[in-house]
Amino acid sequence: MEIPLRPESELQFPHPFKEILGLIQIAAKQAGVTRLALVGGAVRDCLINYNKITKIQKIHDFDFVVEGSPIKLSDLLLEKFTSKRVSNFRIHQKYQTIELSIDRIKINIATARKEQYNKSGFNPEVSPTTIEEDLYRRDFTINAIAFEPKTQQLIDPYNGINAIRSKQLILIHSRSIEEDPTRIIRAARYAARLNFQLSSESISQIKSTLSLWPWGSVHNEPFPHALSTRMRMELNLLFNKEPWESCLELLQEWGALSILEGGLQVDKRWKRRIHWGIRLRVPRLLCFIAGADNPNLLAKQLQLPTSEQKVMEEFFDLKSYLSNLKIKEEHSSPIFWCKILESRKWSKESICIAICFGVNSWEKLLKWYLKWRHIKSPKSAAELISSGWEAGPSLGAEISRLRYQEIETLEDSKYHR
Ligand code: CTP
Repeated sequence: MEIPLRPESELQFPHPFKEILGLIQIAAKQAGVTRLALVGGAVRDCLINYNKITKIQKIHDFDFVVEGSPIKLSDLLLEKFTSKRVSNFRIHQKYQTIELSIDRIKINIATARKEQYNKSGFNPEVSPTTIEEDLYRRDFTINAIAFEPKTQQLIDPYNGINAIRSKQLILIHSRSIEEDPTRIIRAARYAARLNFQLSSESISQIKSTLSLWPWGSVHNEPFPHALSTRMRMELNLLFNKEPWESCLELLQEWGALSILEGGLQVDKRWKRRIHWGIRLRVPRLLCFIAGADNPNLLAKQLQLPTSEQKVMEEFFDLKSYLSNLKIKEEHSSPIFWCKILESRKWSKESICIAICFGVNSWEKLLKWYLKWRHIKSPKSAAELISSGWEAGPSLGAEISRLRYQEIETLEDSKYHR
């Protein structure tokens, strides 16, 4: 079904934003900015959500592109909006962009720019240009529509409006994925969120680029630093803000998970892992990459926080330990598992990931996590001392013995109830 589009003369923005837009226009004029336009998601969503004003109210992020310097503009903005209204103000000199929140509405203002990628996946060299030319550097035609408030006109050189009408996601040019592979993840996010179809040319571009990609699977070669950061950010958005199941299904269908690792492209168990991860409150991204052939390397390549890389290493170690463990009769005893899992070799988080993964004996790990680890000795150290025990290692051993006894009694009573 086609989307009925809001006629451009009626392009409506949420009410609080209208006043902000007015002041930004005045400040831009004073700063010598010759042209200013709104671009990207805000324009796209206003066009898509024809007649659904409540959805438009949910736009939190407004991207502007200007011909002129946003840095000069930023001084005037800080003057016009009192410090009470402005927060998170940041300037990026290299790309001539500013970020700020006004009344908690996120505003990004960037100089219209051309991008030149000298090496695939690395950050581009940039030079100033017109708003029309700036639209060429963008990902999908639906995100390359600009709205100039001064003229009240939409600028749509790539037929983005038609693409919105027919619910198509179309990459703007044939080197888009090669220049910025994170667009693969973005494609899945938009397709799943908006229920749009990725065009067949765009799917072919993803496939052909990936088949040539130097990092198509883990080759012990890290992603370039800037690409890792952007890839991790896109994945975090995918897992935390989007319908992640549909996103991952699409990525797998396009053969695109191989950008992360070949093992993940053929992995059939990610749904189970992540659903368990949600129950056990483990970050979804960690549960997902636990299914890679080499999760430690992938965690490093994605520059996950050091604490998460450590969890991944511990998980990998625990998984190998359990797969080498010859299961014997005594391994059914809770005490055996308490002793192993409380040896402090593996953190709680890594044990949770092992449960999510479904390692050998994962049910025992789950019981330990949910139940056994919380059971205490029925007698405290103070009580034992008052009944004649002396402080020291033997007291510790007695407390452990009593605790294990308690765990076994509770387990037995469960079966004999
Ligand atoms: N963009 C791009 N390639 C990227 C990232 C961003 O071309 N890898 C461009 C797109 O034109 C996009 C704009 O930058 O519309 C802003 O990016 P972002 O804030 O991530 O997306 P939104 O447009 O705000 O859309 P949404 O937040 O709804 O995903």
